[in-house]
Amino acid sequence: MNTGPSRSPRSVHVPVMLREVLQQLDLHPGLVVADGTVGAGGHSKKIWERIQPGGRLIGTDRDAMMLRWAREALPDPAVILQQGSYVELPTVLAGLELDGVDRFLLDLGLSSDQLEDRERGFSFRAEGPLDLRFDTRQGFSAADYLATATAEQLADDFHNFGEEHHSRQIASYLVEHRSQSPVRTAKELADAVTACLGNKASNSERHPATRVFQALRIAVNAELQHVQQGVEEIGPQIVRPGGLMAVITFHSLEDRLVKQAFRDKRIWEDLTPKPLVASPAEVRINPRSRSAKLRVARRRPTSNAT
Ligand SMILES: C[S@@+](CC[C@H](N)C(=O)[O-])C[C@H]1O[C@@H](n2cnc3c(N)ncnc32)[C@H](O)[C@@H]1O
Repeated sequence: MNTGPSRSPRSVHVPVMLREVLQQLDLHPGLVVADGTVGAGGHSKKIWERIQPGGRLIGTDRDAMMLRWAREALPDPAVILQQGSYVELPTVLAGLELDGVDRFLLDLGLSSDQLEDRERGFSFRAEGPLDLRFDTRQGFSAADYLATATAEQLADDFHNFGEEHHSRQIASYLVEHRSQSPVRTAKELADAVTACLGNKASNSERHPATRVFQALRIAVNAELQHVQQGVEEIGPQIVRPGGLMAVITFHSLEDRLVKQAFRDKRIWEDLTPKPLVASPAEVRINPRSRSAKLRVARRRPTSNAT
């Protein structure tokens, strides 16, 4: 594992809907669990306690920094932690001679620890390079993408992945200005979007660049492709008959994919036709949980889908 980007002295991430996840996963000793987005191990630490003795836990994350946090939360060497996307889980499980898992958890999106990492530009305030990749060994940074993409590509991304209303205007502005003032840091991007939108920017409660950042992060990490493959292909492939898959999403683009996948009655019994949401008490303590949606499905025993 590479050492990856730097991190703050302690993990600041608070696991979202922890009580609901533990309840829905119906955990007991001896189960085999995959946490595809193990992050700082917030959910996994509690899962591990509940599946002992005899349980096995496999955690994946694309981000090396997050895996270092996970190892601190889960020091038992019996816990398998592997850098990579959850779409690689079939290979990881094969390497462990496991035919599948009883529980599969995905808690999508970004960790608060990544927002705190000043070196990858996840936060608007960051002066560091605008990278936005979970795994900096793969693909290209958001700054490189902004320097080379066409205005059409950028506008499509801002529209499709950020649901940004001013997608064309922002994309044209960035392309027009990039030869004189290339966007290299998160702060430069936040300032450019604010300058482009002028008066329109001040109408919003959120930072005017919120949707553009989300869109670029989704684009450079190909996030929706991973989510789609994760729920349509990997879940059915690795969750044993009768096993459970739980997914927490943070925006409608992800949630739509999960909802559609769980509607396939040949494969899943959808246990949450209406997704569960965080309690008002949790939202007060952890505002990040405000947009969380938890969906859970049981793998049908009779399905012949792979
Ligand atoms: C919301 S955090 C997970 C937090 C974790 N459940 C906890 O309680 O500590 C999401 C994590 O998913 C990781 N991630 C995003 N896409 C991924 C993918 N396709 N495969 C594996 N990890 C991914 C991110 O790097 C991040 O660490």
